[in-house]
Amino acid sequence: MKANCYNPHTPYGLCLVSLTYLRLVLCLLLLCSLPVMAQSSNGINKWQFPHKPDVQASQPSNLPFYPSRAQTGNRPLTPDMFEDPAICQGCHPVIYQQWKGSNMANSWDDPIYKSLFKRASKATNGEIDNFCMACHSPIGMTSMKLTGADIDSERHIPGVTCDVCHNISAITGHDNAAYVLTPDKNKPTKLGPHADAASPYHQTAYSDLHTRSEICATCHNVTHPFNSTPIERTYDEWQESVYNEQGIQCQDCHMTPGPGTNNNPGKSAVMGKERKHVYSHDFSGGNSTLHEYFGAKESAELARAMLRSAAKMEFIDLPKTVTKGDTVTIKVKVTNIGAGHKLPTGFPEGREVWVDFKATSSNMQVYRSGEVIDGHTEKNTRNFKVWLGDANGNVVDLNVWEVDRVLADTRIPPKGFAIVDYTFVVPDNAGEHLTLNATLNYWPFSQHLIDELLGKGKLKVDIVEMTTASALITIAPASQQHTLITTTH
Ligand code: HEC
Ligand code: HEC
Ligand code: HEC
Ligand code: HEC
Ligand code: HEC
Repeated sequence: MKANCYNPHTPYGLCLVSLTYLRLVLCLLLLCSLPVMAQSSNGINKWQFPHKPDVQASQPSNLPFYPSRAQTGNRPLTPDMFEDPAICQGCHPVIYQQWKGSNMANSWDDPIYKSLFKRASKATNGEIDNFCMACHSPIGMTSMKLTGADIDSERHIPGVTCDVCHNISAITGHDNAAYVLTPDKNKPTKLGPHADAASPYHQTAYSDLHTRSEICATCHNVTHPFNSTPIERTYDEWQESVYNEQGIQCQDCHMTPGPGTNNNPGKSAVMGKERKHVYSHDFSGGNSTLHEYFGAKESAELARAMLRSAAKMEFIDLPKTVTKGDTVTIKVKVTNIGAGHKLPTGFPEGREVWVDFKATSSNMQVYRSGEVIDGHTEKNTRNFKVWLGDANGNVVDLNVWEVDRVLADTRIPPKGFAIVDYTFVVPDNAGEHLTLNATLNYWPFSQHLIDELLGKGKLKVDIVEMTTASALITIAPASQQHTLITTTH
C-alpha cells in the first residue's frame, strides 16, 4: 500500500475523476502517513532504533584496514616495532603481572573468541576478518598481515598488549577500532599520563588521551560495519551517564586495586618516582570464567568483587501478612549502584544478569523463577540482557555478523533501577511463614552457548552471586470470609 501511495506513475488527473475516488486517495494518503506519525509520537528509543548512516559498501580510501577504522598514520608497520611485554616486566613488574591476568592480554587466545571468529570468517568469506582482529589483536592485524586462517596458527599472536595502548597517539572516532597506532622503532616513546616521567629505557610523552575514557571508546563501542547496528555500546552508555558529568573515567574504576579503592600510592617502575596514585592494570570487569580458564585466580576474584560492587537488590512494598489461598505479588528492586555503564554491558550475546527468586514455607517450595535449566535461565526468568535480531526480526544468539537490529534491552542504566515482580498463590498447606530469597546472578555466557561454541563439557561457566535479599512474611490462616464462603459451598 505504501508503495502505491507514492507511485510516481499515478496520473494526477485520474484522482480527480470523481469525489469517491478523491476520498479513497485521501484515505490512502492518511493511512500511509500513520506509521510515520506513530514513530514520532513514540519517543523513539535510540538504542533500539539507531540512526543508521548510509554505510559505504566498498572500502573508503582512508581506511587501510577496512572494515575496521584502525589507522597507522600512513606508515606500514612491522612486528619488530612492538616490544614484548616481558621486556616491560623488568621495570614494571606489578603492572605486568596485573595486565597478564587480564582478559585484554588474552583477547586473541580467548577460546570463545577464537571459535566465534572462525565462524564469522567462514560465513563472510574473510570479509569481516580485519574487523574482529582490529580489537582482538591490533598488532596482529596492523603488522603481521594476519588473515582468518591464522586463528589456528602455532605462532604467538599478541592480544591487547602494553605497546598497543601506549602507542595510540590519536583517535579518529568512538568505535570500531578508530585508533591511530604509531610506534617508532628508532625512538620508542611510551605515551602516558605523566609529563615528568623519565625512563632510562624509553622516551615518554604526556598524553591527555590516556587519562580519558575516549582511549577505551575505540574498542568498547562495536558497530556493525555494514549496517551500523550498535552491537556493543559500553562507551556510549558511560558517555551519557552521570559518571561522565562528574568526570569519572573508565580508568577510575577499572585501573584501581579494586572497587571502592581509588588511591594506590607508590611507584609504577622500580626506579620511578613516588606517585600519589599508580594506575593498576587488572582491567577486571565481570568475566571471571575466562580468568579462571587462563588460571588467573586473582583477576577472577577481582572480577567477582567488581560484580558484587555493582548492584543493590531489595524487596519493596512487601505485605506484612499474607493469607493462605491468596494470590500475592512480590516486588524486587534492582539498582545499578556501581557500574559506570549499563548492567551488564559489553558482549551482548552472552552477558546476562538475572534474579533467581524462591518463595518457601516450612521447607516446601511455593514458587521459583530464575533457575538454570539445560544451560539456560528458565523461561520467564526476570533478566537484564539485550537481544539482537537479524533482518527478519529473529533472535541472533551467536552469528553476530547477521545482526541488523536491537530487539529488546532490559539492562539497567548507570544509577538506574528496575523493578521485577512475581505473582503466585499461597497454598493452603503452607506453614506459618513465607520465606522469600532472591539472588542476583551474572554469567558472561550461558552454559548452552559455551557448549555450542566449544563443545560440551569443555568449559564450565562461573555463575557469580552479585547480591542477595531475603524476607519473612507471616502467613495468616485462610480468612474468616474465605472460610465462610467455603463452608457455604
Ligand atoms: C629499564 C626500565 C624500564 C623498562 C624496561 C621499561 N620502562 Fe617504562 N618506565 C620506566 C620508568 C623509570 C618510568 C617512569 C615512571 C615514573 O616516573 O613514574 C617509566 C614510565 C613508563 C610509562 C609512563 C609514561 C608517562 O608519560 O606517563 C609508560 C606508559 C611505560 N613506562 C611503558 C613501558 C612499556 C610499555 C615498556 C615495555 C615495552 C616499558 N615501559 C619498559 C622504566 C622502564
Ligand atoms: C585495542 C582495543 C582495546 C582498547 C584500546 C581497550 N580495550 Fe578493553 N578489551 C578489548 C577486548 C578485545 C576485550 C575482550 C577480550 C576477550 O574477552 O576476549 C577487552 C576487555 C576488557 C575488559 C574485561 C571485560 C570482562 O568482561 O572481563 C575490561 C574491564 C576492559 N577491556 C577495560 C578497558 C579499559 C578501561 C580501556 C581503556 C583504558 C580499554 N579496555 C581499552 C579491547 C580493547
Ligand atoms: C588497554 C590499554 C592499556 C594496556 C594494555 C596497558 N596500559 Fe599502561 N596505561 C594505560 C592507561 C590508559 C594509562 C593511564 C591511566 C590514567 O592516567 O588515567 C596507563 C598508565 C601506565 C603507566 C603509568 C602508571 C602511573 O599511574 O604512573 C605505566 C608505567 C604503564 N601504563 C605501563 C604499562 C605496561 C608495562 C603495560 C603492559 C604490561 C601496560 N601499561 C598495558 C593503558 C594501558
Ligand atoms: C563507576 C565505576 C565504573 C566506570 C566509570 C566504568 N565501569 Fe566498567 N564496570 C564497572 C563494574 C562495577 C563492572 C562489573 C559489573 C558489570 O559487568 O557491568 C564493570 C564491568 C565492565 C566490563 C565487563 C562487562 C561485562 O558485563 O562482562 C567492561 C568491558 C567494562 N566495564 C568496561 C568499561 C569501560 C570501557 C568504561 C568507560 C567507558 C567503564 N567500564 C566505566 C564499573 C565501572
Ligand atoms: C571495536 C572492537 C571490537 C570488534 C571490532 C570486535 N570485538 Fe569482540 N570484543 C570486544 C570487546 C571490548 C569485548 C569485551 C566486552 C565484554 O567484556 O563484555 C569483546 C568480546 C568478545 C567476545 C566475548 C569473549 C569472552 O570470552 O567472553 C567474543 C566471542 C568476541 N568479542 C568475538 C568477536 C568477533 C567474532 C568479532 C568480529 C565479528 C569481534 N569480536 C569484533 C571488542 C571488539
